[in-house]
Amino acid sequence: MNTFPTTFTDTYFLDSSTTSGAEQAALQSLAEKGFGIQLGLSTEDVPALQALSVQTSVLKYCPKDCTERFKDLPTIEKWLEKERLVFLLKEKSSGQLAGVAWTGPGTSSHIPGGKLTGGIRLSEDFQGQGLATPFLTVVLEHTKEKYSREQIWFECWQSNAGAVHIYQKLGFKIVETEPSQRLTPHGTFDPDTRIYMKLG
Ligand SMILES: CC(C)(COP(=O)(O)OP(=O)(O)OC[C@H]1O[C@@H](n2cnc3c(N)ncnc32)[C@H](O)[C@@H]1OP(=O)(O)O)[C@@H](O)C(=O)NCCC(=O)NCCS
Repeated sequence: MNTFPTTFTDTYFLDSSTTSGAEQAALQSLAEKGFGIQLGLSTEDVPALQALSVQTSVLKYCPKDCTERFKDLPTIEKWLEKERLVFLLKEKSSGQLAGVAWTGPGTSSHIPGGKLTGGIRLSEDFQGQGLATPFLTVVLEHTKEKYSREQIWFECWQSNAGAVHIYQKLGFKIVETEPSQRLTPHGTFDPDTRIYMKLG
């Protein structure tokens, strides 16, 4: 098992020929659609990451991306210190950033035994193309095979039906739901329900 990165790193593209099982099949399916997955985050990726973090759908469900994760270089450096394994989905022909996902240590009082967490965002230019499921498959399998087999958990909003669908399709089971208020990009709150899920 490798240790999770804590800094910007040298990056490389995952090679389906050196993987197996579900990870290999998902990488091949993404390759057929013209996409590859870069492992690791370099400073060169930051402008595209910041542009992604202020897209409408990301602001709606992940408002902390542009304030607490990817705001600027020092903020990202601090976020990486929490041990974050970053995966970037890139369109091979253009090099354009199609999505970002990560895994790393994290606990929640709502998920007994949960030791790892993560997140996924697809750029709006690439949503609705069936990329999220194979992308997240690679993220979860690669983390499990190469980094940690600890219990992984995710959280999301109930109104984010696409995310809930994908997580459940990949085997996440709902552990707890909690009525709450979702902060909107306008600084107001909408009633919503927080869903806590664990894999398996
Ligand atoms: C959530 C997100 C990653 C999904 O990616 P996507 O490209 O929109 O989803 P896909 O096109 O890959 O669709 C995957 C599946 O979800 C289903 N789906 C998509 N939107 C749906 C919706 N509103 N309701 C129900 N199912 C939905 C699709 O039908 C598809 O199902 P299938 O694989 O069984 O055919 C993407 O919309 C996103 O990044 N949103 C903004 C950030 C975000 O919300 N991240 C998650 C935070 S918890």
